[in-house]
Amino acid sequence: MKKSNFVLYALTLLVFLSCQRAPSGSKTDLSVPWRFHSGDDPAWIAASFDDSKWEQINPTDIWEHQGYKNLDGFAWYRIRVAIPHSLTDDAVIKDSLQIRLGKIDDYDQVFLNGELIGENGINIAVKTEPRPDFFKGHSCWELDRRYVLAVNDPRIHWDQENVIAVRAYDQGGAGGMFSKPFDIGMVDLPDQIKFDFSQGGFAFEGDSLTSKQFAITNVSKKENFKGMLTIRAARCDNGNQLFKQQTALNITPDTRTVFTVNIKKDLAVPAILYFSFIEINSGREVSEQLEMPYILTPKPGKAPRINGASVFGVRPWSPFLYKVAATGEPPLIYSAENLPEGLHLHADDGLITGLVSKKGDYKVKLKVTNKVGTDEREFTIKCGDLISLTPPMGWNSWNVWGLSVSDKKVRQAADAFVSSGLINHGWTYINIDDGWEDKHDKNGNILTNYKFPNMKEMCNYIHSLGLKVGIYSSPGPRTCGGYEGSYTFEEKDAQHYADWGIDYLKYDWCSYGGIAPNPSDYQLKFPYREMQKYIRKVKRDIHYSLCQYGMGDVWKWGNEVDGNSWRTTGDIEDSWESLSGIGFSQSQCSPFSAPGRWNDPDMLVVGQLGWGPKLHYTRLTPNEQYTHMSLWALLAAPLLIGCDLTQMDAFTLSLLTNDEVLAINQDPLGKQASQVFKSDVCQIWGRDLADGSKAIGLFNLSEDPQSVDVKLDDPGLKGRWMMRDVWPQKDLGLVQTHFSMNVPPHGARLLVLRKD
Ligand code: GAL
Repeated sequence: MKKSNFVLYALTLLVFLSCQRAPSGSKTDLSVPWRFHSGDDPAWIAASFDDSKWEQINPTDIWEHQGYKNLDGFAWYRIRVAIPHSLTDDAVIKDSLQIRLGKIDDYDQVFLNGELIGENGINIAVKTEPRPDFFKGHSCWELDRRYVLAVNDPRIHWDQENVIAVRAYDQGGAGGMFSKPFDIGMVDLPDQIKFDFSQGGFAFEGDSLTSKQFAITNVSKKENFKGMLTIRAARCDNGNQLFKQQTALNITPDTRTVFTVNIKKDLAVPAILYFSFIEINSGREVSEQLEMPYILTPKPGKAPRINGASVFGVRPWSPFLYKVAATGEPPLIYSAENLPEGLHLHADDGLITGLVSKKGDYKVKLKVTNKVGTDEREFTIKCGDLISLTPPMGWNSWNVWGLSVSDKKVRQAADAFVSSGLINHGWTYINIDDGWEDKHDKNGNILTNYKFPNMKEMCNYIHSLGLKVGIYSSPGPRTCGGYEGSYTFEEKDAQHYADWGIDYLKYDWCSYGGIAPNPSDYQLKFPYREMQKYIRKVKRDIHYSLCQYGMGDVWKWGNEVDGNSWRTTGDIEDSWESLSGIGFSQSQCSPFSAPGRWNDPDMLVVGQLGWGPKLHYTRLTPNEQYTHMSLWALLAAPLLIGCDLTQMDAFTLSLLTNDEVLAINQDPLGKQASQVFKSDVCQIWGRDLADGSKAIGLFNLSEDPQSVDVKLDDPGLKGRWMMRDVWPQKDLGLVQTHFSMNVPPHGARLLVLRKD
């Protein structure tokens, strides 16, 4: 238990109801301490080598978490283990033994009793000399390390002691063994028969969930499996079965067969699909489970409701463009009282345009009316030096299109902001990432490549919709995608961006590493200062987004170089490891976030992604996506959607249009949440809001449901609070001293406590 100045809690962890995984068969566990040594020495291959003086290490977690913080390069793991013949007794597949070693970041060679048996996830079937350059090329950190040997392989010493030695190489960042499973056992039915859900997301028709495609793959080249496929769905809250269907199957060797399951479920109810294949002869089962999307965000009502930030920063004389975000039955009529001189509000679309010349805070009253009613809201325009007073909200092309971005795809994204209604919830920026550049011409003008025939015209089009445009470059000669960067052309490039009408610049370190290979603090800041000098010269407000993956603790000095946001980490991916690794490590940056100065834990990985051109549906489960949005809201993170907006399903849209979740992100106090409690399975993050309320996120990092008991002992939390469940937008009643809440696996509960 940990005391914090925000909340003090006792945490009771209870496993409730269904949604559990089945236990595995008979295996020798390897998730026990191994011997560990940094460095590299061929003598460590030998079974006879005495490693008893080596340190012990847990193989299921990276070495940085176990006292080897700055270790990059080589290190070895060794373990002595018996391989009993009895493992073969109840095996369905009698001829193959497997050694599973979780994952290894980045590369590995695995030796059994002094002989190489595997390398970077690939089996080495016969005696082979280790390859000296096994640690070069594309990182293998995400590959499962499963090494298979024939039972009569002489490298196995049955019923005797065996020595497994693993040579690992980390090319930077996290390093070494991690993840699960770690064991030795016979190859089993689940190793041969696989359920594959990567066909795409669940199908929706309008707001209803209709079906899901999946495939069954038999990876065995010779075995045929006959049995019964059962698919059932059960609610997570009470375990009640929603439906069940059974089919007899004959799964022939080396095949992949696609099936469709039709879904019957209330959209709001969290439920799980259970897949099971039972093989007739052995009675062995292969099973998988899949969370079904559930929508918590209520649909916008017919009455007008003004959304989006309540504060907006602009510099004197910069072109002003702000779209009043509002939902409600059209047509909506917009008006405003006390607009500063020089600004004009367009009554039919809510666009505010013009120029403000005088510095100052202008308290404006916005009004939106339709035939059902009227909504009013105070809106402060702060004309001064600081822009981006709330985190930017928009779309970025990278996570979906990668380098295949084009004018057409960017315009489609802008159109989709309008047609999907995202624009009515405060979504504003349409950002082009890497892949638009050509060369600088002989006069130093940056040219666009054939995919962007007319950048200015495209920007005008996007602005005409009430949206803003972002662009990307690098301080180095080349961008990360190999396109032309801004090195030595900073001034001209900045002017060009302004002429086109750019409102946001992501400036990515990339090849600047070649100019400053071991950058000092000064060198880390220099290229960012350099570009900002010219960005500040142009007559436009350009959000300045630093991208250098957190080097030199950028959150401590990003404001010094006048950045509006700065990436605190490497690139995010659509996996739980990546999302949770990044999201839950942001507490150290919290104190440095403020209006106009945002920590950026990278873009959203929901919906149809792919880093282009080929796309796939996010591999995050629905609960993980609730965690993603809840945490990014609490972290006051820039919200940049990274998916194909033309193919957005009802679930993804519901994640992105919850105005109460977005209001936490856009809270004008601009105070980023920090972690206030951490156990092995749960974390609690909290943030103060401008009106004195507290936003709290309860996160379950485990694979089982948990009940979290929260105690409000802190002096700042004395008194009675009205507790709001933010996703369904429902008051839960008064709380005073403590409360308990169920949190689903890898899921989140987002709460706001308001003074009673
Ligand atoms: C990476 C950056 C990504 C993306 C990419 C483009 O360095 O982190 O977000 O911008 O470059 O090449």
